[in-house]
Amino acid sequence: MKNTRRQIPLSVEWIPDEAGSAVPGRVRILDQTLLPLETRYIETTDTDVMWEAIRSLRVRGAPAIGIAAAMGVAAAAQAAAHEGVASVLAAAERAADRLSTSRPTAVNLFWAIERMRMSARAACDGGCDGKTLAGLLVAEACAMRDKDAAMCRAIGRHGVALLKDGDCVLTHCNAGGLATSEFGTALAPVYEAAALGMRISVFADETRPLLQGARLTAWELRQAGIDVTLICDNTAAQVMKEGRINAVMVGADRIAANGDAANKVGTYGVAVLAKHHKIPFYVLAPSSTFDAKCATGADIPIEERAAEEVTEGFGRRTAPPGVKVYSPAFDVTPAELIAGIICEKGVLRVPYRLAGNVTSD
Ligand code: MRU
Repeated sequence: MKNTRRQIPLSVEWIPDEAGSAVPGRVRILDQTLLPLETRYIETTDTDVMWEAIRSLRVRGAPAIGIAAAMGVAAAAQAAAHEGVASVLAAAERAADRLSTSRPTAVNLFWAIERMRMSARAACDGGCDGKTLAGLLVAEACAMRDKDAAMCRAIGRHGVALLKDGDCVLTHCNAGGLATSEFGTALAPVYEAAALGMRISVFADETRPLLQGARLTAWELRQAGIDVTLICDNTAAQVMKEGRINAVMVGADRIAANGDAANKVGTYGVAVLAKHHKIPFYVLAPSSTFDAKCATGADIPIEERAAEEVTEGFGRRTAPPGVKVYSPAFDVTPAELIAGIICEKGVLRVPYRLAGNVTSD
């Protein structure tokens, strides 16, 4: 079976130390702010570099930032490995505290960091030495990456059953391979369909202000040989009215217990349009994106971004100096607009009673 996803570079991976080398194991991230013009990687063991990379969206997408943060904690632990177990634990906790402040909305970040803390504390309680603890944390972060890949694969298999040959999917932002370990969430059914030999095309919203749809979704789908058409955000209503869209598939940054889903700002508007045009609107996310501690979407913290991303987003000023700007990075789509939430376990439908949370498996 053809694996089209393999033609897209990995967004985040762990580079192990080489035997006998002075270079320690480190995190490698693809700098997504440079796409589609340049494919450049950052390799680091430094928590501050990782914090900046998450904050400025060099690595982005809910599952990918969770994995990057976990690997950042592992790298900090490894750097202290020769200092004894107490120092390794302290270094891991410090990195965990710092990376938790990088972005507020995607719960995967907190889920991954919490798992790293729990693993570290359990290993210490078991009486291990510093080197063993650091090694365990590296293994835990890599296992998280592999588990995310398996969950995305499963999402693809469940999601493809909602599509038929010749369908066209509209998506918003980037919830593809670049936003995860591999395969993506919203785009996983598209890759799965391609692997099965189905003809599925995609309309990608450009996704103002940071253009994840134009820069990333259009790029990765073209890399994979998928038929993609880029549209301005304000064209979504028109293509729906023209009868070109069979399904909307988007990712999520956090899904509340009642099924309300936070995703890139503009997603809610797309859901309203889909309802009006009687097009099914699906949210695709692994259970690491569910947050049962949020009863409804009103409990989800929404990140606000800098005004310059709106007023100078194209590398030049496009608004009068001093104009007031409001720039939430995400919005919340109410559960009643969602035809189904596709996770690794299958397709969930209303009434949603989601149980996953930061301490879930
Ligand atoms: O600000 P970003 O680019 O990190 O926002 C990403 C999204 O909104 C994605 O749709 C979401 O994280 C799901 S990724 C599988």
